[in-house]
Amino acid sequence: MDLIPVAGPWITQKEIDYVADAVAQAWYENANVYHDRFEKAFVSHTGMKYAVSLPSCTSALHLSLAALGIGPGDEVIVPDVTWIATAAPITYVGATTVFADVDRRTWCLSAESLERCITPRTRAVIPVDLYGGLPDMDAIVALARRRNIAVIEDAAQAAGGLYKGRPAGSLGDVGVFSFHGSKTLTTGEGGMLVTDDQALYERARTLGNHGRLPGSKMFWNGEVAYKYKMSSMQAALGLAQLERLEELIARKRETFAWYREELDGVAGVTLNAEAEGTRNVYWMVTVILDATLGIEKEPLMANLKERGIASRPFFYPLSSLPAYAGQAEAERARQRNRVSYALSPWGVNLPSALSLTREQVRRVCDVLKEILSAQGR
Ligand SMILES: Cc1ncc(COP(=O)(O)O)c(C=O)c1O
Repeated sequence: MDLIPVAGPWITQKEIDYVADAVAQAWYENANVYHDRFEKAFVSHTGMKYAVSLPSCTSALHLSLAALGIGPGDEVIVPDVTWIATAAPITYVGATTVFADVDRRTWCLSAESLERCITPRTRAVIPVDLYGGLPDMDAIVALARRRNIAVIEDAAQAAGGLYKGRPAGSLGDVGVFSFHGSKTLTTGEGGMLVTDDQALYERARTLGNHGRLPGSKMFWNGEVAYKYKMSSMQAALGLAQLERLEELIARKRETFAWYREELDGVAGVTLNAEAEGTRNVYWMVTVILDATLGIEKEPLMANLKERGIASRPFFYPLSSLPAYAGQAEAERARQRNRVSYALSPWGVNLPSALSLTREQVRRVCDVLKEILSAQGR
């Protein structure tokens, strides 16, 4: 039996044509043509002044922290519920990760919890647009400004999202995106950093280019740094996808509406929220079951898989992972982050691939309803 996939792209002839052109033409003096076009298109999409295309969002986060000069002795705050890529680069630069709690409704960083986590050592916060939804960025940015903390918006999952009419990724000092194969806008693997800050942009470019200063003589490196660059073929694919972003998001929102319709009135089921004034791009349609039903995510996923349906667990709180075992900040988070720990055991990402049909969504919901009613008996 074929699994109904959990994630996957929507590729058309446009993407194939752009990539074929890049393979054939983007060499010699044209080697960077698609990078330039993709970056310019991202500048115009986000309204930020500068964009740097990169091999991943993880590298974009790493360069953001490094360009801000964050290092040992500094603290950086992340929401406890996110993919580890949000936090791992904090360790790369030698700083300390602090895990704040999330909001019960949006599942994104809670401004109140953020405030409680700030210390004189805090240098940055990385709010995450989780599953395509947006946190209360006005409150987060206002707090960060008052306390002189940089805001790196992790929009890995939210290209095309809107907050009060402003694009996801443009809401902080730096925004970062992922174009991993599971993402709505994909380049297979890839990422982007956007910012309005010229100094930060130039520093990120230099750090991602083996420490070469623009205009310096050839092979004359100013420092030991990193090599972070995507290929022309990836940039071409990303450009085609960005030109189709509204269409991709319309499909995601339609898929979510199908789920909402099928699960309407089913007791004990909560789907992604769309906070007022935001456009959720529903990267992953996610269901949280009431704890009183007693159906934990792992057996639920196993049950779905047996019936031909792929799914993913709602992120485990980072502070619960073996990766952070023994760290004092993780121990504090385990005691403090009530919402993260209350939501995570009961959450599952349902199939959200761009190829999904109405029929497949109906099948997923029928199976889910069967599981729920069997549990209720
Ligand atoms: C919230 C978040 N941040 C960062 C990343 C890292 O992206 P990449 O895989 O492109 O490095 C991901 C990837 O899924 C993510 O979901």
